[in-house]
Amino acid sequence: MIGRLNHVAIAVPDLNAAVASYRDVLGAKVSAPHDVPDHGVTVVFVELPNTKIELLYPLGDNSPIKNFLDKNPSGGIHHLSYEVKNIYEARDQLQAQGRRILGDGEPKIGAHGTPVLFLHPKDFNGTLIEIEEVKASS
Ligand code: CO
Repeated sequence: MIGRLNHVAIAVPDLNAAVASYRDVLGAKVSAPHDVPDHGVTVVFVELPNTKIELLYPLGDNSPIKNFLDKNPSGGIHHLSYEVKNIYEARDQLQAQGRRILGDGEPKIGAHGTPVLFLHPKDFNGTLIEIEEVKASS
């Protein structure tokens, strides 16, 4: 079902400091910050040759990242995103096998403009997993 690792998302307490670490210390190509109000985050994309890192910073009062940062004040890996060809088929297969989808089970448009869903971390070894519909692999 799953294809490529699309990105690893890291919650950060200081976006400018995180950008400086990736751009200036690690020498990576880093995007401008991008607000995603539906997900309560500001995102910076770090482009690597084989995948992306997303730096997530809380946006708004109900950001899901805020709780995470309260528990992990220096930041931490927040989720992994795997590509799927058809998000509805993937969802139905996962649910048929007893895996829980977070929220109302309807895909939302994610930071890349593609439909995403999140899977319950307790069903996947304590890891929050995002599945993202990507039609053609680039
Ligand atoms: Co993501």
